[in-house]
Amino acid sequence: MSLGKTVTLNSGKTIPQIGLGTWLSQPNEVEHAVEWAIEAGYRHIDCAIIYQNQHEVGAALKKVIPSVVKREDLFITSKLWNSSHQPDQVERELDETLAQLGTDYLDLYLVHWPVAFPPGALFLPDESKPGYLKLDTETPLVDTWRAMIKLLDTGKVRSIGVSNHSVEHIKGIIAATGVKPAVNQVEAHPLLPQDALVEYCKAEGIHLTAYSPLGNNLVGKTKLVDYPEVAEVAKRLGATTAQVLVAYGVYRGYSVIPKSVQKERIIANFQQIELSKEDYEKIAEIGHKAHTRFNIPLTYVPHWDVNLFGEEEEKGATHTVKIL
Ligand SMILES: NC(=O)c1ccc[n+]([C@@H]2O[C@H](COP(=O)([O-])OP(=O)(O)OC[C@H]3O[C@@H](n4cnc5c(N)ncnc54)[C@H](OP(=O)(O)O)[C@@H]3O)[C@@H](O)[C@H]2O)c1
Repeated sequence: MSLGKTVTLNSGKTIPQIGLGTWLSQPNEVEHAVEWAIEAGYRHIDCAIIYQNQHEVGAALKKVIPSVVKREDLFITSKLWNSSHQPDQVERELDETLAQLGTDYLDLYLVHWPVAFPPGALFLPDESKPGYLKLDTETPLVDTWRAMIKLLDTGKVRSIGVSNHSVEHIKGIIAATGVKPAVNQVEAHPLLPQDALVEYCKAEGIHLTAYSPLGNNLVGKTKLVDYPEVAEVAKRLGATTAQVLVAYGVYRGYSVIPKSVQKERIIANFQQIELSKEDYEKIAEIGHKAHTRFNIPLTYVPHWDVNLFGEEEEKGATHTVKIL
C-alpha cells in the first residue's frame, strides 16, 4: 500500500499523492487497470478526453462505486482538450467528459495544453502545411482560463488547474484573472527536474503533478525504469525501479501518476517506499548529466507548430502561446 499521503491544494481540497495514469492504455485494458488500482487502494485516477478511453474508465468506476469505494473518496482528474479552448466550448466538453466517466463532478479539471485548436474535431490537419495540425491562433489562453473559472460555480468541478504550462503562461493567466491554478501537471522525472518551474509553483502555492514519472516516451529512448543508477538504488532497498522513481517524485513534493495496465505493476507501483537524502541525490544526479523532455508537441506526428518550452528541438516553430 501507499503511505496514504495527500497534499492540500490552494483550493482547500486534498489530492492523493500517488495516482494511476491512463494515457496509452489500449482498448479493453484500462477498465481492468482502473478496477485493479482501486481494489489495490489507489484513490486518484488521471484521465483526459484525448486519451479516448474515458468510457472504459467510467465502466470500471461503475463496478467499484459504491461496493469498493465511495465516489467522495476518489480523486478524479480530467483535462480540457485543445479543440475546446473557445469559451463557448469549455462547459460543453466538460459535460461530455462527465458523461463518459459516469460521474457528476470532477475533483480536478485541467487545461491540458496552453495551445488552442479549432473546434469541431479533436485534431484537424493544416491543409496549407502538410504534416502539421491546424492551430487556433486567435483564442488567447486567458479567455480559456476565464471559462474554466466559471466552471467552479457549476458544482461540476472541485478544483481547476493547468497542464504543460510554463512560468510565463501561468503568470499571464494569474495577472489577467487573479485566480491561481490549483495544480500544474507537467512532465517531471530525474531527466527533467524542472527546477525553475518547481520553485515558482512552490512560491505561488501551485501543486505540481508529475507525469511520465517512469520516463515513458514515444521516441524509443531508454526508459528510466531501465537506468542502472535507478536499478542500483532499487536493488539496495529491495524495491522496484518504478518504486524508486515514484519515491523521487514524492521526495520533491509532487503527486505522481505512473501508468500501467499490468496488475502486478499497478499493485507494486502503489507500494510506496521513501528515499534517504543520499539515495535521492544519487537519482537526481542522472539529470545533471542528461536533460531529456519526452513530450514535445512540435516533434509529434503530425506536428504542432508551436514553441512551448523553449527546448532546442522547438527552435524552428512559427508560433508561441497567445496568452492575452
Ligand atoms: N498532461 C499531459 O500532457 C500528460 C502527458 C503524458 C502523460 N500524462 C499522464 O501521466 C500518466 C503517466 O505518464 P506516461 O503514461 O507517459 O508514462 P509513465 O507512467 O512514466 O510510464 C508508463 C510506461 O511504463 C510502463 N510501466 C509501468 N509500471 C512499470 C513498472 N513497474 N516497471 C516497468 N515498466 C512499467 C508502462 O507499461 P505497462 O502499462 O505495460 O505496465 C508504460 O509503458 C499518463 O498515463 C497520463 O495519465 C499526462
